[in-house]
Amino acid sequence: MQYVELNIDGAIIRTPKGTSVLDAAIEYGICIPHLCHVPNLSDMGACRLCIVENIVNGHSKITTSCTLLAEDGMVIRTNTERIRHLRHNIAELLVAQAPNSRAIQDIAVRCGVTHVRYPFHNDDCVLCGRCVRVCTEVWKAKAIGFVGRGKERHVDYPFGIRPDFCKQCENCIQICPMTIKPCDGPMKEGEERLCGNCASQLILANETPGSCVWCKLGEGFACGRYAQ
Ligand code: SF4
Ligand code: SF4
Ligand code: FES
Repeated sequence: MQYVELNIDGAIIRTPKGTSVLDAAIEYGICIPHLCHVPNLSDMGACRLCIVENIVNGHSKITTSCTLLAEDGMVIRTNTERIRHLRHNIAELLVAQAPNSRAIQDIAVRCGVTHVRYPFHNDDCVLCGRCVRVCTEVWKAKAIGFVGRGKERHVDYPFGIRPDFCKQCENCIQICPMTIKPCDGPMKEGEERLCGNCASQLILANETPGSCVWCKLGEGFACGRYAQ
């Protein structure tokens, strides 16, 4: 097997060629917030939470780390002020889109979000594509897919009807961030505030920011550390 060596947040990490920067970081214990990434499935760069700075010849480029393959000599920064600011905004928009998702609330708190400045939508899907990829790549069923464009874009069966080739495995439901049981105090219009009381949130925020602590969210959400 061929290996490459890259620098992530000052740590020299050796990883098999073909590994994404996100996987290399997680494997080393540097937790880059992520939502649409699922271990062993392809990556589509949908949520943009996993952005990092890729420093090339002294110039920094912002890119999603799940879609960026690790290369020899790469210099990656996951936790700069610029990244924290952008990630905070991305997380805030996600919460506004789906304020009652516990998974999204947890990730948002990790990204430092306490108040949400955007109007709430209460969408039932954040278009992360986890369900579509598990159906296509694990179950080889292709029973669901993205339909429509722009604001009309959503996940559906062909012609809106569950096809016979759907295996009724329910993996699409289990893997969806919208189906994780919400916390007791889901946010309502006019209460755009994250309480931050979840144990997983506080452990991550207060003790070892920037590195994986085997949080409860990860356990319930098939984070790479738990899936191994
Ligand atoms: S229940 Fe059907 S649509 Fe959902 S992942 Fe399984 S095969 Fe795909
Ligand atoms: S239904 Fe759930 S898993 Fe599928 S794209 Fe929407 S939020 Fe993601
Ligand atoms: S985890 Fe990389 S864009 Fe969603």
